Amino acid sequence: LRVEALQELQQVDSPQQLNDLRVKYLGKKGALTEILRGMGSLSAEERPVIGQVGNEVRAAIEEVIETKQAAFQQAETANRLRAETIDVTLPGKKQAPGAVHPLNKVAQEIEDVFIGLGYTIAEGPEVESDFYNFEALNLPKDHPARDMQDSFYVTDDILMRTHTSPVQVRTMKAMNGKTPVKVICPGKVYRRDDDDATHSFQFNQIEGLVIGPNIRMSDLKGTLLQFVQLMFGKQTEIRLRPSFFPFTEPSAEVDVTCVQCGGHGCRMCKHTGWLEILGCGMVHPRVLEMGGYDPNEVSGFAFGMGVERIALLKYGIDDIRHFYTNDLRFLSQFVRM
Ligand code: PHE
Repeated sequence: LRVEALQELQQVDSPQQLNDLRVKYLGKKGALTEILRGMGSLSAEERPVIGQVGNEVRAAIEEVIETKQAAFQQAETANRLRAETIDVTLPGKKQAPGAVHPLNKVAQEIEDVFIGLGYTIAEGPEVESDFYNFEALNLPKDHPARDMQDSFYVTDDILMRTHTSPVQVRTMKAMNGKTPVKVICPGKVYRRDDDDATHSFQFNQIEGLVIGPNIRMSDLKGTLLQFVQLMFGKQTEIRLRPSFFPFTEPSAEVDVTCVQCGGHGCRMCKHTGWLEILGCGMVHPRVLEMGGYDPNEVSGFAFGMGVERIALLKYGIDDIRHFYTNDLRFLSQFVRM
């Protein structure tokens, strides 16, 4: 049995075969096990002799099996190491890093400035009712200023909002007459413009609204100065020019000293030294009223700016369409900015 077993074991060439042989000789019904089990019928003298021989045979077979098994394991490990070898000298695959879109980046910067000044963010729907977009902002149905903003109508009474100012009204109503109100409202707006270097049918605005007792024009001016200096640099100055919006009185347009030439005159500021960046004013008493506030008790200021315009100025970009055409040569310039 021993000779036969060892001979068979020598020829084994797979772990399965090895296991089969283990079962064949040493298993519960294995050949050696049978013999040892049959020892009960042997005489008292024979028993220890056969028992000893049996144990020797078992030990010999086990030893060979163990050696074989170790060899198989070693071979397998070697195989795996060979198969999983990594050539560290191969060139790596280049990963193109993504970038935040310049419009989102600028919007986030603007939001950060105002959050730092204690504002919270309010949002409203892009599909808006005539009431919020016009009526409640002191633009009655036949008001000529409605032409200022050619609109995309969904129905007679529903349109794509032409500015973020309706969020002023929604915020006032939601506040239920409480003060202080201190919000900015970022979002997309829509106008029936033909797209060109400075116009787009869809663009982004950020609205600001502050309401409280004794809010004055000087608060507005101070806030905007603070904003532009954080946005464009400490040396930036502003000037307010009288203007008109139906929802503010008085109204103003705000210019900053040209971020490109510092106010000395260049192509970007058409040699005036100034760049227009936003519209603003003191909230019109009728707008306060329609929003649920008593204009004799509180006052407020509001402003609205175009994100595209701020981004154009900040980065010296000459065509708004760069923002929408997804040309990687343009976008990838903002990866590390
Ligand atoms: N809504 C105005 C516009 O779109 C901007 C503005 C907002 C002006 C708030 C005054 C106050 O042009």
